[in-house]
Amino acid sequence: MTTPARQPAGQQPVIRNISDTALWAAVFRGWESQRPDALFRDPYAELLAGERGARIARELKFGTRHTWSWIARTYLVDQMIHAQIAAGAGMVVNLAAGLDTRPYRMDLPASLRWIEIDLPAILDYKEERLAAERPVCSLQRLRLDLSARAARRTMFAELGRKANRALILSEGLMIYFNREQAAALAEDLAGPSSFETWILDLVSPALLAVMKKRMGAHLEAAGAPLEFGPEEGPEFFVPHGWKPARVQSLLHVAARVKRLPLWMWPFALFPDRFPTHGKRPWGGACLLVRNESVFDPNPALEPSRNGNTL
Ligand SMILES: C[S@@+](CC[C@H](N)C(=O)[O-])C[C@H]1O[C@@H](n2cnc3c(N)ncnc32)[C@H](O)[C@@H]1O
Repeated sequence: MTTPARQPAGQQPVIRNISDTALWAAVFRGWESQRPDALFRDPYAELLAGERGARIARELKFGTRHTWSWIARTYLVDQMIHAQIAAGAGMVVNLAAGLDTRPYRMDLPASLRWIEIDLPAILDYKEERLAAERPVCSLQRLRLDLSARAARRTMFAELGRKANRALILSEGLMIYFNREQAAALAEDLAGPSSFETWILDLVSPALLAVMKKRMGAHLEAAGAPLEFGPEEGPEFFVPHGWKPARVQSLLHVAARVKRLPLWMWPFALFPDRFPTHGKRPWGGACLLVRNESVFDPNPALEPSRNGNTL
């Protein structure tokens, strides 16, 4: 049960549409970037999040209370991307890229092709604000509603033909899909043979339930209900073409990189495994590989900026 989002008369809703969640995510990257011991630096995040992003973070207090999970996710995904590029990925296809600025802020090979896909309005907004900046690799933005199945298949097929080995990234997207939509997206991504690996974030049913209870009403009001937290965990994707190669909980990462608040430390005593039995809240990042893959999905991760290796 979610409590309805309360809105003072005459005020815009806190979250107007699904793309506002990109402003929200950027806020946390901005906060981390201001720390002297930042795990990553995103010099554009604060500008991109803007006052709207700051308002969302103020009002959706549950999200802000768990800033550690946003930071751990960015940090871990950065590491996974570096590892896959070191292992030979020549293209990154970032589904629902939002206000992610990795092609500007990460140390990437100039020869890398980075593709950002998202809805038109958020990419227009981003492009306008980053107009004076230069990405470190080749960057292309494609405006597409990823729920349009025929159009996305055509786009994936075209990208697949241009890539030798592509890494798919979908950070902060799957939670807005229902089971059928998640399965269909996985199957479409398994179409092009050059789409070799896929990084995504995932929550357990128990964490999904908590998130719905604490923040769901704002997202539902914006037409972006929280939906996906499969009981099977990353194994959900196996019948749809993808098997888990690496799965890490954000809580354990946050503990290791010293971003977990003290009151949450006891939870880090649980094993770093998706809770297939029981009702434990769990959120993590997964590296999936194609079911038929024999490619080593798990090369040693590079030490990060602050020397930690996950
Ligand atoms: C939580 S944000 C994540 C943005 C970014 N990946 C990050 O981690 O900062 C979710 C993003 O999904 C995009 N999105 C949601 N549904 C989409 C759809 N059907 N087609 C394209 N983009 C979509 C939104 O526009 C938004 O940018």
